[in-house]
Amino acid sequence: YSIFIKYFKNKMTEPNQKNSDGANRPIQIIPSVLPADWANMGSCVKELEEAGVDRIQFDVMDGNFVPNLTFGPEMIAACRKYCNVPFETQLMVSQYNCETMLESYVKATKGVKEEPGVVIAHAESNIHLHRVLGRIRDLGGSPSVALNPHTPFEMIENIMDMVDHVLVMTVNPGFGGQAYIPTMLNKIRKIRKFVIEKNLNVDIEVDGGIKANWTISQCAAAGANCFIAGSGMFAYPSLKEGCDDLRKVAKDAQNGKVISDCLLYTSPSPRDQRGSGGPGCGWKKKRGGGGGGGGGGGG
Ligand code: DX5
Repeated sequence: YSIFIKYFKNKMTEPNQKNSDGANRPIQIIPSVLPADWANMGSCVKELEEAGVDRIQFDVMDGNFVPNLTFGPEMIAACRKYCNVPFETQLMVSQYNCETMLESYVKATKGVKEEPGVVIAHAESNIHLHRVLGRIRDLGGSPSVALNPHTPFEMIENIMDMVDHVLVMTVNPGFGGQAYIPTMLNKIRKIRKFVIEKNLNVDIEVDGGIKANWTISQCAAAGANCFIAGSGMFAYPSLKEGCDDLRKVAKDAQNGKVISDCLLYTSPSPRDQRGSGGPGCGWKKKRGGGGGGGGGGGG
């Protein structure tokens, strides 16, 4: 009987007034630890928590699904004792690693009181995606699904009732510091429209090349409310400055103040940042004409 109840509880989406009338969902700033000092990860997650972030993302890469190789569940679990902020684990790994190690990933990602942590399975690496997402929920995690830039939303339409988040990659996964791909905006809009029409309780995340400029602004205006930033966060003189800047630009966009023209922005080179000693990686308005637009790239 309890299994029956649990099944239907999972199946039903709580009525969420934030969706049916398209009201904005809360902005969440979620730094990626990719650019952090890995030899000092414990103090880094503590500093990120003190900077006011909403969650911390661990980019798990196995050198198969993506060329890069990072860390496994032990690194995530080791960070738990240094902070209380919720964790999020993006599994950029093969199906073998995802299925075999899933229990360890879900366990390592849980909160200080065993609350569900966000565990993100990639649609492209899981032939049995429906089963994997169900297992994440059964293991006590918060299931999320990620889409690479080439993958259409339709690929996950049939499992949207199983997830709490959809992650739209705005770069090809595997490395930080890449240029943002602006054509992902249509996919974000399509997912947001679906979530509202079906009254689903689902956040939209974006990850890759997100900075406190037109990139986060246009993604927020398109319907995303969770923003993963690595280089765009760590380039600031203080993490709090980065977190606050990202949150402000995203909130402004939700309220209709959208930065639309990327041609006015160029990413300052590291020399500029050092030279100016000024507001860190805050994007400088380019003087005079348009000229090449910042692609949101640059470290
Ligand atoms: C790609 C990684 C990066 C990282 C963020 O696989 O997931 O997107 O989190 O890197 P930036 O913010 O530097 O693009």
